[in-house]
Amino acid sequence: MNASAPIRSADTDLDLWLAQQTGKGLLRFLTCGSVDDGKSTLIGRLLYDSQLILDDQLASLRKESKNRTVGDEGIDFSLLVDGLAAEREQGITIDVAYRFFSTDKRKFIVADTPGHEQYTRNMATGASNADLAIVLIDARKGVLTQTRRHSFILSLIGVKHVVLAVNKIDLVGYDEAVFAGIETEYRAFARDLGFETLAAIPVSALKGDNILAPSAQMPWYTGPQLVPYLETIEVASDRTSQPLRFPVQWVNRPNLDFRGFSGTVASGVVKVGDEVLIAASRKPAVVTRIVTMDGDLEAAIAGQAVTLVLDREVDISRGDVLSHPGQTPEYSNQFQARMVWMSDESAFPGRSYLLKTGSQLVPATITDLKFRTNVNTLEQSPAKTLELNEVGTLTIATDKPIAFDAYASNGLTGAFILIDRISNATLGAGVIDFGLRRAQNLSWQSFDVNRDVRARMKGQKPAIVWFTGLSGSGKSTVANLIEKRLAAEGRHAYILDGDNVRHGLNKDLGFTEDARVENIRRVAEVARLMADAGLIVIVSFISPFRNERRLAREVAGDVTFAEVYVDTPLAVCEARDPKGLYARARRGEIKNFTGIDSPFEAPEHPEIVLHGATETPEQMAERLYSQMFGWGLGYSI
Ligand code: ADX
Repeated sequence: MNASAPIRSADTDLDLWLAQQTGKGLLRFLTCGSVDDGKSTLIGRLLYDSQLILDDQLASLRKESKNRTVGDEGIDFSLLVDGLAAEREQGITIDVAYRFFSTDKRKFIVADTPGHEQYTRNMATGASNADLAIVLIDARKGVLTQTRRHSFILSLIGVKHVVLAVNKIDLVGYDEAVFAGIETEYRAFARDLGFETLAAIPVSALKGDNILAPSAQMPWYTGPQLVPYLETIEVASDRTSQPLRFPVQWVNRPNLDFRGFSGTVASGVVKVGDEVLIAASRKPAVVTRIVTMDGDLEAAIAGQAVTLVLDREVDISRGDVLSHPGQTPEYSNQFQARMVWMSDESAFPGRSYLLKTGSQLVPATITDLKFRTNVNTLEQSPAKTLELNEVGTLTIATDKPIAFDAYASNGLTGAFILIDRISNATLGAGVIDFGLRRAQNLSWQSFDVNRDVRARMKGQKPAIVWFTGLSGSGKSTVANLIEKRLAAEGRHAYILDGDNVRHGLNKDLGFTEDARVENIRRVAEVARLMADAGLIVIVSFISPFRNERRLAREVAGDVTFAEVYVDTPLAVCEARDPKGLYARARRGEIKNFTGIDSPFEAPEHPEIVLHGATETPEQMAERLYSQMFGWGLGYSI
């Protein structure tokens, strides 16, 4: 590292603060616990004791603290934290708030995350950079499910150092037996979680017991006090000593004379003159310049945002990763991972999500859910889905290869999140255990007789007409009329119908959400193969989920694809009830019936909408025919 390298101008408070602390001891930690465990009070106490609170703030705090539970200082410390939080949350939602304080010995960054059950996600976000976690327990309540879940996530995210703060010890009369009971129970649970250090400290954040100095109330306790412990604990978190990972955020090309690759060094050191390897192409290049807004550097270390200039024209795009030869990341489209699910919507194998790691963002599916882990007992059991707050071990396949590391060797390039493709919400966070290479050796075989040749022989252009709509909406009736019409013209079409395909290929699938996801995934693939064979494929499945219809469209690739929504109101379908299924569903004899106790997500942008309640099947077929196979969609056979 070049010690005289200028520090890049900070663009956030955090950057600035970190920059000022360069070379000083720094501990990043987070606090986790349930609501009311006293997290805010503890953080407020730490800020107060490190004298980071201004005098006028103190005066107004004292005033506000009237009629509230206060310590000897006359202050409700939680007001301090919650008050700041309220201000902050007026604008945008912030999942994690970072607070800074320091003592003579060390600087600290605390990631403060909301404690509600549904905020597991925030906790995982806060934990992802932390050296240590304070797990707070209310001495009156003991170890809760939430405590276990948070601890499990800590281990998942790779936090190696834990302080078990048994808080509100004053409210149980400073009872040694209560503390000992909680400590024993927690240690037994944490044994398998792989923490390197675990200190249990009885504290009262409100009263200040065992925060800075030994508490006179607890002569039986001979261990360390919280702040001194945080000041001295050794946490090795030196990203700079790890192999170089430089994920390219964007290709910087302001004019024809300059081409650089911008990003933040995730780990390691890069120097001018270094040979680097490009993950995607495995091509080498040499770094000729390291450019920053404040001038060129000789070297850049983990955490620095820079632009690298290379000695040759190489193909690099956003998301690519540069490393040193011999220390390259894995590059694959399959890996095994552990993940915590953070959404009310279940996780299904086969559904397409977006996977984000570093600056890479690619479509991905869970290919195999191996098991879920009970966070209370750490027992593993088979699973078809993952629900909110559940933890699972699974394999994930990405649509194209990505560069990554096993989490155990690199915490940044080994962690990922899954994002909903439609709402963009974060659904789950996980860590990569290892890459799987299977699919890498598989490539699509091209044969000389291809889709175009087959289509020409048939004198038609292949297409996929994808019907979606409730049971009884008229999909199959219209599909049948269209096929007849096409056949009369000598066209080769084929109907893939839900009821029929479920007799054979999909007879192992029922009607739960995960089974429907798989049902549609398979039929999307079959439709694509049939289109490749030169056919006009008419798909008639309820296909109730937007996600899978979108997947079907993607699988179709460059085959003409039309989503046809047969929009017939539920009441009309139910009144018709051609198969008597609605009546049975209403009687509770059939479960998960679409429209009754299983959702139907109407298409947002279908190519064609047919109105089953106001049009006859013949009218619908005619309109579809002229719109689809006339020139309406720019498509003709
Ligand atoms: S999908 O939701 O997975 O796309 P699909 O089109 O294959 O459904 O199958 C729907 C057909 O299965 C219906 O037309 C109906 O005849 C029958 N069926 C049996 N049980 C159900 C159910 N619980 N929900 C919907 N359809 C059902």
